[in-house]
Amino acid sequence: MKSSEIREKFLSFFESKGHTRVRSSSLVPANDPTLLFTNSGMVQFKDVFLGQDQRAYTRATTAQRSVRAGGKHNDLENVGYTARHHTFFEMLGNFSFGDYFKKEAISYAWELLTTVYKLPAEKLTVTVYHEDDEAYDIWKNEIGVPAERIIRIGDNKGARYASDNFWQMADTGPCGPCTEIFYDHGPDIWGGPPGSDQEDGDRFIEIWNLVFMQFNKDEHGVLHPLPKPCVDTGMGMERLSAVLQHVHSNYEIDTFQALIKAAARETGCTDLENKSLRVIADHIRCAAFLIVDGVIPGNEGRGYVLRRIARRALRHGHKLGQTQPFFFKLVDDLVKEMGGAYPELAEQAVRVAEVIRQEEERFGETLGNGMKILEAALAKDSANLDGVTAFTLYDTYGFPLDLTADICRERNVALDEAGFNAAMEAQREKAREGSKFKMNTSLEYSGDKTRFTGYEQLAHEAKIVALYVDGVAVNEVNAGQNAIVVLDTTPFYAESGGQCGDAGVLMGSDGAVFAVSDTLKIQADVFGHHGVVTTGKLTIVQSVKAEVDQARRASTMRNHSATHLMHKALREVLGSHVAQRGSLVDTDKTRFDFSHNAPMTDEEIRQVEAIVNREILANQATRAQLMAFDDAVKHGAMALFGEKYGDEVRVLDIGSSRELCGGTHVSRTGDIGLFKIVSEGGVAAGIRRVEAVTGEAALALVQQLNSTVAQASAALRTQPEELLNRIVQVQDQVKGLEKELATLKSKRASSQGDELVQQAADIKGIKVLAATLEGADVTALRETMDKLKDKLKTAAIVLASVSDGKVSLIAGVTADSTGKIKAGELVNFVAQQVGGKGGGRPDMAQAGGTNPAALPAALAAVNDWVSAKL
Ligand code: ALA
Repeated sequence: MKSSEIREKFLSFFESKGHTRVRSSSLVPANDPTLLFTNSGMVQFKDVFLGQDQRAYTRATTAQRSVRAGGKHNDLENVGYTARHHTFFEMLGNFSFGDYFKKEAISYAWELLTTVYKLPAEKLTVTVYHEDDEAYDIWKNEIGVPAERIIRIGDNKGARYASDNFWQMADTGPCGPCTEIFYDHGPDIWGGPPGSDQEDGDRFIEIWNLVFMQFNKDEHGVLHPLPKPCVDTGMGMERLSAVLQHVHSNYEIDTFQALIKAAARETGCTDLENKSLRVIADHIRCAAFLIVDGVIPGNEGRGYVLRRIARRALRHGHKLGQTQPFFFKLVDDLVKEMGGAYPELAEQAVRVAEVIRQEEERFGETLGNGMKILEAALAKDSANLDGVTAFTLYDTYGFPLDLTADICRERNVALDEAGFNAAMEAQREKAREGSKFKMNTSLEYSGDKTRFTGYEQLAHEAKIVALYVDGVAVNEVNAGQNAIVVLDTTPFYAESGGQCGDAGVLMGSDGAVFAVSDTLKIQADVFGHHGVVTTGKLTIVQSVKAEVDQARRASTMRNHSATHLMHKALREVLGSHVAQRGSLVDTDKTRFDFSHNAPMTDEEIRQVEAIVNREILANQATRAQLMAFDDAVKHGAMALFGEKYGDEVRVLDIGSSRELCGGTHVSRTGDIGLFKIVSEGGVAAGIRRVEAVTGEAALALVQQLNSTVAQASAALRTQPEELLNRIVQVQDQVKGLEKELATLKSKRASSQGDELVQQAADIKGIKVLAATLEGADVTALRETMDKLKDKLKTAAIVLASVSDGKVSLIAGVTADSTGKIKAGELVNFVAQQVGGKGGGRPDMAQAGGTNPAALPAALAAVNDWVSAKL
């Protein structure tokens, strides 16, 4: 049975039992900071189990793409070494949300395995959590599994509920006891039943895990009962396929065989059993699907896991002798295998291959050198690898530690991980030393936090609570002095979240004026107003009127609100892999960096502009609400992964966008005016940058473009709408003229040729000529050469021309004289004197040079050189 049929049979079986077929969710869990990757089918239903979300159905079935690399469930180290571990796998599952429980879950599983997949009942062994008598009884009395094949498993991992038969998604979240179904691959394979000493062998393989979700585990490890008991099951597609395709290793199933053959083709490896091919086949699935879901290789978090996986595959390719990029070529093979079940893979294949190719090129440069360093270290000590070398490989050559560990494991070398960690810590310490200086110069402040009023107000009275000149706290600041002012409350926005700080003035009732050029936080929630006293003086506790520069703030707000709309539009046009990677919003523009792998086309740029401007025209009122983080995320607010948010967050609805944001925004989208993208370009691998303008700046841009077009039209004596035609016309004219000029030049050169015949010297019966042809290109030189040879009959000739400071040379010798003089030698005799070199046949040779000044003397010396040869 092919993998695709196995998948389909599973889903339709559960559909026939009233389950709704739900699509696989992304490998990047939506706004769930407790989890690195989707590691099983239940992840997308987590909130449903917790009773925080409701669906239109109470039974669901999925084929879920899953990754277990990094995080709580991590199989990376085992990949390639066992028959059944993968970084990426498909999990087939059925779920009950407060609907059925243990009895149905177990019966459905048994029915599917024994009647649809037709597995012999005697090949199946099950485990239950040691306290779960209910599950035990169902297996024994209702299903009829003999007692010797029902194994109770206790807390075998060292703590209460730490058990192979107690499943939890992550350190916190839904969890519960489970019952697992094992398939016995037979006595030919080494291994023993679950719970035995030999359980790690490959004979008894767990194929299906039925979890009875009953608790929610909190951060203190306390279990709270779920509102309703639920069922979450997961069956490894690859393991089941191995069973149904009568093979003992997952790597022998159809999907993997195809990928292993592809890896063999691309690496030139002929041994299909080679473990490196398995690693590559596993890793291409993981790398490709992570990229489909928006992950880009990087140095942190998910990006680093992807990088580790890709680099590990590349290292295995290298080991098989492939030093050129090859991994990306497997994407097409993967699409053939899995594109049908996961259309998103097929749709993004080109982008995925491109991201992988770039990573291959980046690592390809250092992989070879790193391997040399490693070999050198192992040549000295073949049993141990020291931590400093491992750290150098990591730090300088981009070898993730697990890649080095993989090599060590292969060769039975002990890796000094403690030494590695020490070297890493030493480097961090150095970096900390380096930044201490900065800390010491920071301002000392121990008063209250600043109360920010600038969402609603732009001017009001406030009290000066601290003053600093040159980094030192003072009691007063005089005219002409630069200072930082802290107020008890302020309408000035301090730079944060990519939005620049406000400018404006602080005015005392005594006429003192402090011009604020920027506002920056001096500590969390303490705002420093930077500027200069232009009149009078400022003193501590004095009252001032704090007034924000409204025009500047208005431009900044337009740019910031437009950024939210643009972010949303980019995701609409380019895809949901687009995620913010950086942003800078100031009075002039918005600059937005995001993950995407190809330059945007003109059409895509136009679409984004159109969507944003449509939102502006709709002139929706902006809405800001404070809510709990979890609620915000539940209500679809875009949160940036890796960003730290407080418990209470500000949710901004601007047009149809919804983001968590502390910035200041327009009150209606219409306030933005016009939105126009100015530029688009790449900043790093997989990261694009767009700059855009709004309001008056957008108008200025359009006016500027308009006037450039008007001036260009005037210069070409045409109307703007005719400009393009006119340019093409002029270009054609130029081309025609260039052709004509070339013909004239060549004519002139050949007429020069006629004159040159007269200048040839007769040296021992051979006509010798060395001359410069003004303005001739190489073609003209050749044509003239042919003519001269014809006319002079027996001759040795060198012709030269000079253009743009470069010398072109050509030498010709008539056939009757090549026995005495070789054109190649002749041309080089001249060329070496003008700083060049050349070559060719005995009768015709060419060369170039860079020193025209030396040309006359070099040509003058030709007669003597020829004479000496004869
Ligand atoms: N969520 C359960 C597992 O992954 C079914 O094993």
